[in-house]
Amino acid sequence: MSPLIMMSNILGFMLIIVAASKPCYGLYLCRRHLYIRNDLENHLPLKINCWSNDNDFGLMILNFTQEASWSFKDNNIWGTKFECDMEFQLEGQMKRGQVVVYNNKKKIRTRECRKRCKWSVREYGLYAFDEKDKKWDFKIPW
Ligand SMILES: *[C@@H]1O[C@H](CO)[C@@H](O)[C@H](O)[C@H]1NC(C)=O
Repeated sequence: MSPLIMMSNILGFMLIIVAASKPCYGLYLCRRHLYIRNDLENHLPLKINCWSNDNDFGLMILNFTQEASWSFKDNNIWGTKFECDMEFQLEGQMKRGQVVVYNNKKKIRTRECRKRCKWSVREYGLYAFDEKDKKWDFKIPW
């Protein structure tokens, strides 16, 4: 194979990689970060139990202002989904919810998170951080 043909093959291959990795351009940049933070106004602990398609992260207890986080790459073929059971005390009552916090195949937020998918857990429900407007949007009531 002549060096010129080899070069054009390599270029073609690189183009395929770049095209396949859209919309996050480049392999490293495709990593996403998911955060769940306890912002409960009563400062009580939050219990979360999260799982993805192929992992169960077990029970975690987040004290006020603590957060749990995960880094991962989207699986564009099978989909990437994170789901959590959440539980906390509110005025002596147990509040519970099961929430899909990430799904690359389905729109669950008004604006998709690009790199950092942040959730704030509060007494009224979950707030999603809008990376564009830099503000918290109320999304999911309990
Ligand atoms: C959360 O708070 C409890 C009670 O104050 C404390 O015992 C525990 O170590 C804290 N957990 C973490 C992970 O900071």
